[in-house]
Amino acid sequence: MTRIYLDHAATTPMAEEVIQIFTAEIIDEFGNASSIHQTGRNARKKLDQARNVFAASIGAHETEITITSGGTEADNYAIFGTAYARKSEGKHIITTQIEHHAVLHACEQLEREGFDVTYLPVNKKGVIDINDLKNSLRDDTILVSVMYANNEVGAIQPIQAIGDLLKDHPAYFHTDAVQAYGSIEINVHALHVDLLSVSSHKINGPKGIGFLFVGKGIALKPLFYGGQQERKKRAGTENIPAVVAFAKAVELKQSKLQESITRNIQLKQVFVQQLESNGVQFTVNGPKEDVLSHILNISIPKTDVETFLVQLDLAGIDASSGSACTAGSIDPSHVLVAMYGENSPELRNSVRFSFGINNTEQQVIEAANKISKIIL
Ligand SMILES: Cc1ncc(COP(=O)(O)O)c(C=O)c1O
Repeated sequence: MTRIYLDHAATTPMAEEVIQIFTAEIIDEFGNASSIHQTGRNARKKLDQARNVFAASIGAHETEITITSGGTEADNYAIFGTAYARKSEGKHIITTQIEHHAVLHACEQLEREGFDVTYLPVNKKGVIDINDLKNSLRDDTILVSVMYANNEVGAIQPIQAIGDLLKDHPAYFHTDAVQAYGSIEINVHALHVDLLSVSSHKINGPKGIGFLFVGKGIALKPLFYGGQQERKKRAGTENIPAVVAFAKAVELKQSKLQESITRNIQLKQVFVQQLESNGVQFTVNGPKEDVLSHILNISIPKTDVETFLVQLDLAGIDASSGSACTAGSIDPSHVLVAMYGENSPELRNSVRFSFGINNTEQQVIEAANKISKIIL
């Protein structure tokens, strides 16, 4: 049975061209970018070129890119880096109830260390209200961290409006763009964003690599101490093959951004139509517009997500719930709790399907038919 992978929000396969460059670099580019000999200088050149690609992709300057081990580190660096650098100016942080755990758990740790964190609520579509943010802002607010788009339901947040609002406030503005990057055109300066997290494995690049955009004049306390890499902001020998492959993945995404958005919307529509024409009853979690093109989260009445995911797995379909799997049992998704409340049925019957490069219309029709058979 050939499996149908519909879990691209969790991770993506590496693109063919990315695999080629990654394997070639592992063989050829073993140099340490800090070494002064030719082999080291070659590695440094590749690193600089990649950094330029990352910067150009978001309208930034290359000195504003700090390469990290992925989205989790980028988020942690933005949050702890700001909190520890600015604690004498204030200890208040604003974030949302629907952030990825890389942000939420970092903020919870800061609360244990004496920081005060406001978690903004969302509406039933999974979107924050800019007025809630306005009302929560204080003179001692040092950081606002709002994800660009949610990884479970795809809801895009009002990032431009937040950036505009914070232009006249000293708080740094961080956005976790791990899901949005590669699905939305992003310009950090137009958005007035100070810090922005990106991860390679969500855009058909290798795992364990990402970057944090750190705007000019934004001072963060480093997470790591050691060598002088990344202009002393992130110690540790750079993973050049992963960096170069990540840059290739960025170039591919950038060159085909509109095409891939249109394709994902089309795949989503075909999938939804097939479910509907088979008579499956479901509702969509998240907004109809202002939603990431690759994510579809649906609630199917009378199904149990745990059983359903096992049935999907046995039928050869990879999908997921946004829920965390802890010690064999599934905790309800904090995102759906924030959208619907503690006791709503959506917490037990929602599944996320997410589309990507290798999916075909034929595959999504086959998946929808298999799903219909399970449910009906
Ligand atoms: C919104 C968001 N932030 C952060 C992360 C963590 O990124 P990484 O897996 O690169 O550590 C993810 C990954 O699922 C995500 O979806």
